[in-house]
Amino acid sequence: MDFHHISVMPEETIAGLITAKDGIYVDCTLGGAGHSSLIAQQLTPEGHLIGIDQDTAAIAAASERLKDYPCRIDIVKSNFSQLDQVLSDLNVPHVDGFLFDLGVSSHQLDTAERGFSYMQDAPLDMRMNQQAQFSAYDVVNTYSLEELNRIFKEYGEERWSKRIAEFIIDARSEKPVETTGQLVDIIKKAVPAAVRNAKGGHPAKRIFQAVRIEVNDELNILEKTFRSAIAHLKPGGRIAIITFHSLEDRIAKNVLKEMASGCICPPQLPVCMCHHKPEIKLLVKGKAASHKELEQNSRSKSAKLRIAEKLPAKWD
Ligand SMILES: C[S@@+](CC[C@H](N)C(=O)[O-])C[C@H]1O[C@@H](n2cnc3c(N)ncnc32)[C@H](O)[C@@H]1O
Repeated sequence: MDFHHISVMPEETIAGLITAKDGIYVDCTLGGAGHSSLIAQQLTPEGHLIGIDQDTAAIAAASERLKDYPCRIDIVKSNFSQLDQVLSDLNVPHVDGFLFDLGVSSHQLDTAERGFSYMQDAPLDMRMNQQAQFSAYDVVNTYSLEELNRIFKEYGEERWSKRIAEFIIDARSEKPVETTGQLVDIIKKAVPAAVRNAKGGHPAKRIFQAVRIEVNDELNILEKTFRSAIAHLKPGGRIAIITFHSLEDRIAKNVLKEMASGCICPPQLPVCMCHHKPEIKLLVKGKAASHKELEQNSRSKSAKLRIAEKLPAKWD
């Protein structure tokens, strides 16, 4: 199967990210190397591109796509939460730019047997890392009512979270829920028909998002990883983050906002006690895709781009 994925906001992202053509750039979500091939095109033979992904299919597709560029290229199969270790293994302490294009690729969604899509019947899986032990099957078949309710509410922002969790517990008391199709049927039974037929997308969309986030621990690793990336940036280096839903965007926005702030004391304190200094400057604050891009790539609909630049260490 070809690796199909259209990169989101490619021009804006690459133009905002690259400041030195002989610099070191880390694409933390390599995918099929759509963004990375644009980075590699710009780099001179002295430049260095590091691509990280936890998915073996992405690693294979990206390795093929990037094989003929003149710059140094290192492709690493890892979780970006291991960023410090990846950079230390490559002996790269300082970096000119980091890119995070979060979430799943179209290839992952479109490959039915990966179990990410509520539109295709397949075993419940949803692992981005095919070697991981924990899958959607485990979430759906072993989590308690309270745990299911919590992830559906927190990660899916699903109004019917408790009722859907109850229907899952009920269904699995007879036999395990094995497929995406069975899960979709349970969700359809749990959500009242009037709500299901109202506008607001497929009734399983939010539950599938929640289970996927839980399986891949997508949100808990973000803040620490963004902070670690910024710590590795050279002064003037940049971090670009593309998010696809409000939960991950809130984390990106809050971390960048805090790191770009001076004093972060509570407003009721009469004098500054924190002596916090800004470490970065915000350059792009949640830019959406253009109308033209939206027409060509529906995936860009919910995308937001944020870019920040590292300030010199002795800034004051
Ligand atoms: C939206 S796609 C990236 C597409 C890529 N920018 C392009 O233009 O072709 C996101 C990729 O990041 C990977 N990914 C998501 N979270 C990850 C994590 N925590 N560690 C490593 N890779 C991750 C996914 O496996 C997927 O291949």
